[in-house]
Amino acid sequence: MKLNEDDKPHKELNQSFPLITAKPNCTDFNSLLDYLKNHQHELKSILTNHGAVVIRGYEVKTPEQFQQVGLNIFPNLQNQYPGGAPRHKVAEYVWTASGVPSYLPIAGHTELSYSPSDKPAYILFFSPQVATSGGETPVIDMKSVLLDLPEQLQEKFAHNCLVTKLFWVSTQKKLFDVRLWKWPWFRDAKSWKAVFNTQDKDLVEAKCRDAGRQTEWFTNDNLIVSCPMQAISSHPITSETIWTGWFPSFHIWGVCIEAWFVAKYQRKFRSWLVFFILFLITFGQICLEKLIPNNRKYRVLDVAFEDGSDLSFWDVYYIVKSYWQNTELFSWQEGDLIILDNYRIGHGRLPFTGERKVYTAFA
Ligand SMILES: [Fe+2]
Repeated sequence: MKLNEDDKPHKELNQSFPLITAKPNCTDFNSLLDYLKNHQHELKSILTNHGAVVIRGYEVKTPEQFQQVGLNIFPNLQNQYPGGAPRHKVAEYVWTASGVPSYLPIAGHTELSYSPSDKPAYILFFSPQVATSGGETPVIDMKSVLLDLPEQLQEKFAHNCLVTKLFWVSTQKKLFDVRLWKWPWFRDAKSWKAVFNTQDKDLVEAKCRDAGRQTEWFTNDNLIVSCPMQAISSHPITSETIWTGWFPSFHIWGVCIEAWFVAKYQRKFRSWLVFFILFLITFGQICLEKLIPNNRKYRVLDVAFEDGSDLSFWDVYYIVKSYWQNTELFSWQEGDLIILDNYRIGHGRLPFTGERKVYTAFA
């Protein structure tokens, strides 16, 4: 189901998600485990057919219980997260969903799309505490995203690989980058020692090589990891041709463009203010890079086509627009779990107010 023309979601969006709800008097945690034991096949076939499922109404309250549910469905849950998102491990197989400040949006993407060999097949989310307002999770149909891109762009991305880059510092370091925006504009960049859980550069190189990523070391032991990715590929189970869920934040204008669509949808003063400040910071960063071209290599995230050419502002605009055209906004209720096919369905996060807790796991 698509957003209608003025980007306002239909009121009953949540009704279109396949929903498993607890029966009255069977809402306790053990009832959920019993249900999962007896309905494994049904659950997997819902995921194959729809790409998403919501489990609601059971008394799931802690990350450990979420982990137990996850392991019941996917015994191969991952205990390593090799990506760049700011998250903290809270149990052996569970992380916080994101440490991005509440006033910022997270653009649509599939998890680890930028590192194809690390990409999980499924991603699970669980929320024990919902926001006062906002905080919906956009659930994005990547097959429709591809079909809604301008033909010229489809052609361009079908014949050109993307190369995504992550800049990781050796020790905590202040960088000026719009993707690290947190008042007052500078934030500690993520350290490769924390990402790879080691101080051993050889081990980091070996891990990256195994995952098809290239490493480039700077003076001060700062690191750039780059990885080629297809923007269009086949689903590993259904073989459908899909957009692989490239994360627009890799482009310097990506966060700002996402903030534009969020402001148009939320129509709140704060959303417009965030967009306006992001616009100024992005513009400032680009001007600085024009004056000091060497600065570009210190972008925390970057992207280019394999032949070295850049994605344009409009390339990114039409990609984000297509994400929004093919989004359903999932409004959380306390205790909800949502499972997504991470090839077919993308996710993001809308800005919110109040306290919001969401945990994640990967399979
Ligand atoms: Fe994500």
